Formats: sequence, C-alpha cells, structure tokens
Amino acid sequence: MTERPYSQACENNKTPILAVLKQHCQAPGTLLEIGAGTGQHAAWLSGQLPHLQWQPSDVAANLPYIRQWQSDPGNRALPPLALDVAGEWPAGHFDYLFTANTFHIMAKPLVEACIRKGCEHLTEDGKFLVYGPFNYQGQFTSDSNRQFDQRLREGDGDRGIRDQEWVVEQFARQQRHLLADHEMPANNRLLVFG
Ligand SMILES: C[S@@+](CC[C@H](N)C(=O)[O-])C[C@H]1O[C@@H](n2cnc3c(N)ncnc32)[C@H](O)[C@@H]1O
Repeated sequence: MTERPYSQACENNKTPILAVLKQHCQAPGTLLEIGAGTGQHAAWLSGQLPHLQWQPSDVAANLPYIRQWQSDPGNRALPPLALDVAGEWPAGHFDYLFTANTFHIMAKPLVEACIRKGCEHLTEDGKFLVYGPFNYQGQFTSDSNRQFDQRLREGDGDRGIRDQEWVVEQFARQQRHLLADHEMPANNRLLVFG
C-alpha cells in the first residue's frame, strides 16, 4: 500500500488559508484545486467549507497519495482528478480555483498555462486563489525565501519564486485582476484574482 504522505507545512498553513477562503469563497459553488500534493489541504479544507464542492487534482502520478487521505474523518472532497496544467482540462467552469505552492515548482510556461487555462475554466464571477511565496519589485521578502529560492534553482533551473507583478500581468492578459493580496505566515502570500 502507498504510504500516506504528510506535510508539516500543510498542517501549519491550513488554518490561515481557511480564514482567507472563508472571506472570498462565501457563495456555494465548485472549487478545483490544482497541484493538490499530499491531499491534506483538500481533506481538511473541504470539511471546513461544506458549501463548496471541492475537486482536488494533480498530475496522475500523485493521485495515489491524495487517495490515502480520502477516508480521513471530515473529508468531503471528491475523488482526485488527473490534471497536468499543460494538458487537457476537465470540461466546464468552476466557481473557484485554488492552488498552493505550485507556481515556484512549475516552470514559467507552465505557470502561464495554468493561469490562461484556469481563467478559461472559471465562471465570469469566479475567483482564482494562489497561495505561496512571491517576490515584490524583484526583492525577496525574507532571507529564508532567498535561501529557499536558491535551493529550488540548484535542484531544477526552471523552478524559482515568481515575481508577484509578473503573476498579476499574466492574469491581466486574461482580463482578471488582483482583488486582494493577503500576507500569510512564514513569508507567504495568498493572491486573489477575479
Ligand atoms: C510543492 S507541491 C505543493 C503541494 C500542495 N499544494 C501543498 O501546498 O503542499 C507542488 C505540486 O505541484 C504539482 N505540479 C507540478 N507540476 C504540475 C503540472 N504541470 N500540473 C499540475 N500540477 C503540477 C506537483 O505534482 C505537486 O503536487
């Protein structure tokens, strides 16, 4: 049996993320999570936000890990969907898109694809919420983010912390705009576009 994955960071950031989702995702609707990783956010947040139909997704190879959280008490998420942002997206539109800690992992063209295709699958009034570390005006917001970025780039040159302004520009190309930029613990941000 696949060992159940666990991320301490997810445990640490899930409560602050919930507070922001409660603020911006008040209307009932469907939520597609992109790059769900261990599946911990889906397992817990879906139970805390029962008015949302939470659809976790990730690249196919990751789905067995997410399934390990399926039977967690309180988990209301749907079975995970295979979604590589560069490939075919599920048909239809979602009221909300949520992704955490993916934009510094995906190569820049993949981030662009994620934003472009995501916006194509977002309802007109929908919101796209992006959690993670970002730079501002080319500057790291902390020494720990600088060190993290260095480790990312040493491991894979396509990875790295993105400039918030560059992300905002990608959304503007899809006629979507920054509604809020929340400061989060551990030098992270939660950007809300609509
Ligand atoms: C650092 S993990 C973050 C996982 C989780 N969201 C979290 O906050 O812990 C990055 C995730 O991005 C996913 N990812 C990377 N490339 C992707 C792609 N092309 N399409 C969809 N997901 C991708 C990885 O599979 C991984 O689950």
